[in-house]
Amino acid sequence: MAIERLVEPTMANDAEEERIEISLRPTSFSEYVGQEHLKNNLKLAISALKKRNDGSSLDHILLYGPPGLGKTTMAGVIAHELGASLRVTSGPAIERAGDLASILTNLKDGDVLFIDEIHRLRRAVEEVLYSAMEDYKLDIVIGKGPAARSVRLDLPHFTVIGATTRTGSLAGPLRDRFGIIHRLEYYKEPEIEQIINRTAKILETEIEPEACKILAKRSRLTPRIANRLFKRVRDYADVNGDGIVDVKMAENALELMEIDYLGLDPADRNMLKLMWENYGDRPVGLSTIAALTGDEATTIEDFYEPYLLQLGLLMRTPKGRVVTEKGKKHLQNFKNDVL
Ligand SMILES: Nc1ncnc2c1ncn2[C@@H]1O[C@H](COP(=O)(O)OP(=O)(O)O)[C@@H](O)[C@H]1O
Ligand SMILES: [Mg+2]
Repeated sequence: MAIERLVEPTMANDAEEERIEISLRPTSFSEYVGQEHLKNNLKLAISALKKRNDGSSLDHILLYGPPGLGKTTMAGVIAHELGASLRVTSGPAIERAGDLASILTNLKDGDVLFIDEIHRLRRAVEEVLYSAMEDYKLDIVIGKGPAARSVRLDLPHFTVIGATTRTGSLAGPLRDRFGIIHRLEYYKEPEIEQIINRTAKILETEIEPEACKILAKRSRLTPRIANRLFKRVRDYADVNGDGIVDVKMAENALELMEIDYLGLDPADRNMLKLMWENYGDRPVGLSTIAALTGDEATTIEDFYEPYLLQLGLLMRTPKGRVVTEKGKKHLQNFKNDVL
């Protein structure tokens, strides 16, 4: 059984958490912290579009990168900055080509269609999508058998924003339809601090600058995790103190959650430990790691691995993943109970 993880960067699955997460979402470029390169590109594209004012729509945009870095949020910001309406769906949610057809025919000129997990679109749906993205036409077949005929419908000029954790699994022709393809990067620590301070303000909680630094250091440079840790620490400070998040509250709460100084949780350390104990310096294949930890291979690839790679605790080789010297050292530290 996979361990339920506090630092899991996927979207909250309880309603209360989801409500808070939505309330924390920045809606404009000025509120959206970091990712300056992406923001500058988008600002340019949007102002050029507004200046042209010829009824064309913004290029289709593909955002990729690990979960929790702000892809969905950015889709909302873009729609807001365009003054357009946003329609949200996801790859797995569109079951048949007909479902996509009905979404597309209900759009208006300039609308933004956000497709989360776009790499999980079904083949038949994908084919309809790329012709729609290419020339804003929809070919549908009416009737069955010999009486069937194909009709071509005009579609409004919409913009697709696709989000994916992996561009590798995206079909080439679909990928080619995106005019802007951008990878979201892990945030810098001061940016995460800025996000935590913003969250504290919205949730009307006082946080000391030093406590904020501690949280930022352990947030895996990921806004969703920063917000989640902040909420847990806030709860801790409400119960065990006067509600102010200071260094002591932050440290105690993190210790309770077993989150170490690199932001790793027990599940991360467990994975490294199992790899090291069973394989030492030899490379381990993804499916073997999955079997060791009891997770799905995709979970490891999308959630655990990117940050461990980023930290240099894990290395990817053609033959599999290897725990690095730094990784071993971290395990050793942890054995000695250094938090
Ligand atoms: N650049 C940012 N500035 C401030 N908050 C952010 C930023 N990016 C993400 N967040 C916060 O993190 C949460 C998760 O972001 P989200 O867009 O859902 O990530 P993704 O879609 O990449 O998994 C959002 O609810 C938002 O509050
Ligand atoms: Mg998302």
